[in-house]
Amino acid sequence: MAEFKEAPAGAPIGEKLLTWVDNRFPASKLYKEHLSEYYAPKNFNWWYIFGSLALLVLVIQIVTGIFLVMHYKPDAALAFASVEYIMRDVPWGWLIRYMHSTGASAFFVVVYLHMFRGLIYGSYRKPRELVWIFGCGIFLCLMGEAFMGYLLPWGQMSYWGAQVIVNLFAAVPFVGEDLALLIRGDFVVSDATLNRFFSFHVIAIPLVLLGLVVAHIIALHEVGSNNPDGVEIKAKKDASGKPLDGIAFHPYYTVHDIFGVGLFLMVFTAIIFFAPEMGGYFLEYNNFIPADPLKTPAHIAPVWYFTPYYSMLRATTDPMVNVLVGLVGAAVVLAWLKSGFSTKGKIAATVVALVAMALLKTFDAKFWGVVVMGGAVVILFFLPWLDHSPVKSIRYRPDWHKYVYAVFVVFFLVLGYLGIKPPSDIGTLIAQIGTLFYFGFFLLMPWWSKLGTPKPVPDRVTFHAH
Ligand code: HEM
Repeated sequence: MAEFKEAPAGAPIGEKLLTWVDNRFPASKLYKEHLSEYYAPKNFNWWYIFGSLALLVLVIQIVTGIFLVMHYKPDAALAFASVEYIMRDVPWGWLIRYMHSTGASAFFVVVYLHMFRGLIYGSYRKPRELVWIFGCGIFLCLMGEAFMGYLLPWGQMSYWGAQVIVNLFAAVPFVGEDLALLIRGDFVVSDATLNRFFSFHVIAIPLVLLGLVVAHIIALHEVGSNNPDGVEIKAKKDASGKPLDGIAFHPYYTVHDIFGVGLFLMVFTAIIFFAPEMGGYFLEYNNFIPADPLKTPAHIAPVWYFTPYYSMLRATTDPMVNVLVGLVGAAVVLAWLKSGFSTKGKIAATVVALVAMALLKTFDAKFWGVVVMGGAVVILFFLPWLDHSPVKSIRYRPDWHKYVYAVFVVFFLVLGYLGIKPPSDIGTLIAQIGTLFYFGFFLLMPWWSKLGTPKPVPDRVTFHAH
């Protein structure tokens, strides 16, 4: 146990109280470690605002969620009407509901931008691998949270969206049907499904999410923040051990972030007050019709933030599986012709490839669609070990790397757009090319990230006072 400290005689009551608390709980220590003496690089740019904004949206979702639960009824016979009751009769209920529904989309906007920042500045690389992995866990939880939350209003899209996605699990070989049954709690999406999704949405996933966010920030503060130059500021310290290019998070970045929060809230409130449905993108029109298990809507599309992955699922058709078989075959030929593998290695690679090809042809394309969709998220966890570039930040990579990242973003957006639209032949073809590029980007990264001549990385961060 640490020794008890005494406040000086005649100290103000506030100081005495703080000393009393500090002797029992590390309040000042935590404040120093995470705020007033957490030294962040002085060259942060606006990409660095999205972590704080994600925290803000998390708080908004939890607080508005608490108030929604006070009036919402997780019962298939009452759920839709209870949401209408919140919208029409509960004082300010419409505001709370729109904050929560807009908050869901805002969360994904902010988190996608936050992840993209990590991608371009190499923030996932040593020593921040765990920061990134906790982040990927957060992203998975967010997806689960949004998916389960979407069933709760019990509208047509809630119902049929859940039906389509849960049915996907039935495509898993051998255990699929039982798995889908376990998730639904019934043979179709029903009251039992609504109850369990409610329980997961309101308590189970938020608990895990909060835990992961705390772990994410503790891991970040252990190693320190990266920055747009990808230069480690801890490498150059002054005599007192403070990084030369670091500035205290509080007050410098707290003020900076409060300004960003102000801007964000302007956009957020403008959407809530003037366009809460966002043309059907944030709240789909079909969801204003109560769920009807006997009437399948003509076009079922997930909310925008899931559509890139949904596109990849739809792109995995039988011909696409044949292309994948061809690609695995081509990889083996390349391994024999070009790789530095030993003969034993080459034989092992061939055996693995043959098994993969056989599996690809044995199971249904629908199952592989599910694997592709899940794999698109799972692959993110491995990013720290896929990137072999000698430099971290995009700033010092060969110029053509920027085009690779740009094409990646364009394909991701196109996949997102195609996922909203009803399927078409040309759309499927473009989605297939996009899916191949998405996976190629990550799987071939160990090769392409090493290519080209990087620019010299400065010793200290580049900073222009403004
Ligand atoms: C609820 C969601 C999330 C919250 C509240 C959150 C919060 C934060 C905060 C406050 C920071 C420090 C400020 C900043 O650098 O922007 C940060 C940094 C970071 N986050 Fe997140 N984050 C979330 C999701 C994610 C996700 C999904 C990923 C990636 C898959 C991720 C990856 C990172 C990385 C790599 C850093 C370090 C960035 C650097 O130092 O350059 N985060 N996060």
